Amino acid sequence: MTTQDKSVRTLAVDIGGSGIKVMILDEEGQPIAERARVETPEPAKPEPVLAAIASLVAQQGEFDRVSVGFPGVVSNGITKTAVNLDPDWVGFDFGNTLSDRLGKPVRVVNDADMQGMGAISGHGVELVITLGTGFGSALFVDGKLVPNLEAGHHPFRKGETYEQQLGRAALDAVGQKRWNRRLEKAIATLQNLFNYDCLYIGGGNTKKITMELPPNVKVVPNVNGLLGGIVLWKD
Ligand code: BGC
Repeated sequence: MTTQDKSVRTLAVDIGGSGIKVMILDEEGQPIAERARVETPEPAKPEPVLAAIASLVAQQGEFDRVSVGFPGVVSNGITKTAVNLDPDWVGFDFGNTLSDRLGKPVRVVNDADMQGMGAISGHGVELVITLGTGFGSALFVDGKLVPNLEAGHHPFRKGETYEQQLGRAALDAVGQKRWNRRLEKAIATLQNLFNYDCLYIGGGNTKKITMELPPNVKVVPNVNGLLGGIVLWKD
């Protein structure tokens, strides 16, 4: 058996409002194969989402454990909110259900938390926001996660939340130019609120960013949402 055969493989899963993505990572967190994706089923209830993950997994190679980024609050594998999926997720034991289904240990965290774990430096105050169907957020202090930050549903401006102003529906409704102006304002209010050393912006809609970003703001590739999956097992 070669060293490579012995390495622990992690299946990273990112559940989004529009797509579900999977990728197998080696022990160092390097992708072993191409990322695979399917559309998020509609309605995005637990059973069809589990079935979609199982069908993606069937086309993947061997793996030993599973990390999942979920678009809502997650506590000990239980999904507590899922604004952009379906109310049936509230109180669902996702971690154990998926583990039974795949026959492997599973860890589930919030998608922005997982994205952040793949992006941060581990020094100082680091804020992560994700721009996709929803507006995700994660805060780290010297690499330690401050749990359950849900900035997306916090009031931002004009009686609307960050997610209402900057989520995918808003981008579609107001167009790229106005959305960029809003993003500029959001970056300024978040800087004033958190006084972060660095802000990382991830998610599929980062490709719509045309504004010039301040020096302490970095766009991170979407794949970090999956790469963060390796960090979940470092304890
Ligand atoms: C959810 C967050 C999630 C974000 C991005 C929001 O609507 O409340 O938990 O991180 O969408 O998916």
